[in-house]
Amino acid sequence: MKVIGVAQQKGGVGKSSITINLAACLARTHRVIVIDVDPQETSTQWAENATDELPFEVFTDLDPANLVRIRNLANEYDYVLIDTPGSLADTAVLGAVLDVSDFCILPIIPEGPVVGPLRRTIRELVEPRNVPYRVLLNRIDRRIYGQLEDWENLLDDGLKLPRFVGHIRTSKSVADAFLDGSVVTQFSDTRGTRNAISDFTTVAQELREALDAVPAHDLKGTN
Ligand SMILES: Nc1ncnc2c1ncn2[C@@H]1O[C@H](COP(=O)(O)OP(=O)(O)OP(=O)(O)O)[C@@H](O)[C@H]1O
Ligand SMILES: [Mg+2]
Repeated sequence: MKVIGVAQQKGGVGKSSITINLAACLARTHRVIVIDVDPQETSTQWAENATDELPFEVFTDLDPANLVRIRNLANEYDYVLIDTPGSLADTAVLGAVLDVSDFCILPIIPEGPVVGPLRRTIRELVEPRNVPYRVLLNRIDRRIYGQLEDWENLLDDGLKLPRFVGHIRTSKSVADAFLDGSVVTQFSDTRGTRNAISDFTTVAQELREALDAVPAHDLKGTN
C-alpha cells in the first residue's frame, strides 16, 4: 500500500479535483481509497453528488490524529490518496498527513502568488519529513503563448523542484464534474472531454511509475 498526500498551502489550486480524478485513473488497475481530511469536504461532496458510483471509496475523517492508523488499510487498498485543506492555517493537519505519506503531489496553477506557498510547503513540511514529491502543473491554457514552457522552466531552472512531465489543462469538463459527481474515467470521449481524459491518464501513469520507485517505508508498513 502506498499513501499519497495531495498538498499545497495555497487554496484553490486543484487539490480536490486532482485527488478525485487521479484516484479514478488509478482505480482502473488498483484498489483505491480517498481520505478527505479537509473540513470543506469537497471530495466527500463529490462522492455524494455522484449519480454513477465512483470507482473508488471515499472516507471522511476530519481528525488527523486518526491517520496514524492508516496502515490498517494495507490489506484492503493499494493506493490511499489524501485530500487536504489549503491554507497557511492548516499546518498541523498537513503535517499529520505528510507524516503518513509515502509520496506527495503538490498541485500549482500558473499564477505568481502560488510560488511562495509552494516553496514554504516544501521547505517547512515536505522536505523535513523526507517525503518524495513532485509538483503538478494544473489549469494550463495552451492558447496562452509560452505559459506552459515558462512555468516548466521556472520549476526546472529557477526553483529546481521535481515535477510531473505531464500537466493538466484547464477544461470545462473538469470544472463541471463536481456538480454531478463524475470523474474523468466516466466521461464519454468527446472534443470537450478529450484533453481531460488524456491529461489525467498520462499523469496517473507517471504517478504509478513514481510510486513503484518509492521504497516501502520501514516504519510505516510492509507493502
Ligand atoms: N484543470 C481544471 N480545469 C478547470 N477547472 C479546474 C481545474 N482544476 C481545478 N479547477 C476548478 O478550480 C476550482 C478549485 O479547484 P479545487 O477545488 O479542486 O481546488 P483545491 O485546491 O482543492 O481548493 P481548496 O484549497 O479550496 O480545497 C474549482 O472550481 C475547480 O472546478
Ligand atoms: Mg479542496
